[in-house]
Amino acid sequence: MDSGAAVEVGGLVRSFGDRAVIDDLHLTIRPGEFVALLGRSGCGKSTLLRVLAGLDREIDGGVLVPRRKAVAFQAPRLMPWKRVWRNVLLGLPGRPERDAAIRALEEVGLGHRADAWPKTLSGGEAQRASLARALVREPDLLLLDEPFGALDALTRIKAQRLVAELWQERGCAVLLVTHDVEEALLLADRALVMEGGRIAYETAVDLPRPRDVSDPRFGALRARLLDRLGVEGKEGPEARETEPGTHADTSVAA
Ligand SMILES: Nc1ncnc2c1ncn2[C@@H]1O[C@H](COP(=O)(O)OP(=O)(O)OP(=O)(O)O)[C@@H](O)[C@H]1O
Ligand SMILES: [Mg+2]
Repeated sequence: MDSGAAVEVGGLVRSFGDRAVIDDLHLTIRPGEFVALLGRSGCGKSTLLRVLAGLDREIDGGVLVPRRKAVAFQAPRLMPWKRVWRNVLLGLPGRPERDAAIRALEEVGLGHRADAWPKTLSGGEAQRASLARALVREPDLLLLDEPFGALDALTRIKAQRLVAELWQERGCAVLLVTHDVEEALLLADRALVMEGGRIAYETAVDLPRPRDVSDPRFGALRARLLDRLGVEGKEGPEARETEPGTHADTSVAA
C-alpha cells in the first residue's frame, strides 16, 4: 500500500436511509498491528468491519485495505451441507487443495474434525473452524467480529490464546471487535472506542505480553476504557485495584 499502512480509512461515511451510522471516520492500522474495537451495541462496529472486508461498498470516503483480507463473524456461518474442510475452502479462488484446509484446521487444533459435518461441532469448535477459514486465506488483515462472544469462559480464554499465538506467528494486522474490555487489553496493541459514527477515543496498550490482569497499569487502562464506554459506578480505578476483575464483570452489556 502506498502509505505503508495495512488499513487507511479517511472520511468514511455509511448511511442507512438518512442516518449516518459511520460519520467521517478516520482510522489507520499498521501492518502487523493488533487493534481492538470497542463501542456500545449499535454504534456501527460490524458496519465498519463489513466495509473493511469489502462486503459493503455503499460508502463515501477513502478506504485502503490489503488485497488479502479475511473476516470471521460472531456466528460461524458454516454451510451445514458441506464437510468442515470444504467449508474452510469455501469461496477461495482457484482450486484449493484439501491439504490447505487440513493445515489451517491443524493450526486451530481441529485437524481431527476435518471430515465432520458442521452440526456435529461444538460452539467452540465451530468458532475455530471459522478461524481456520479465515487463516487459509493467508490474510494481511484479519477482521474478527466478536469471535468469542458465544463461548463459555474457559473456551473463550483458550480461543483468545489461540488468536494471540496465530497473530504472533502470522504477523498479520488484526482488527478485533469485542464487548469485553479485558479481552481487548489482553490481546491488542491499541484499543479504540467507537461512538457517534467515528473513533471517539483510543489508547495504546503499552504493556508487556503475556499481559497480567493484576498489573496496576492494566487496571488503570481498564478503568479508563470502561469510563469511556459509560460503564460507571463500581468501576473506579481504586475499586479495580482491590477487586481484580473477571471477564464477567468487565463485559460491556450489549
Ligand atoms: N442493512 C442495514 N439497514 C439498516 N440499518 C442497518 C443495517 N445494518 C446496520 N444497521 C444499523 O446500523 C447501526 C449499527 O449497526 P452495527 O451492526 O454496525 O452495530 P454494532 O456496533 O456492530 O452493534 P453490536 O455491538 O450490537 O453488534 C444499527 O443501528 C443497525 O440497526
Ligand atoms: Mg456487531
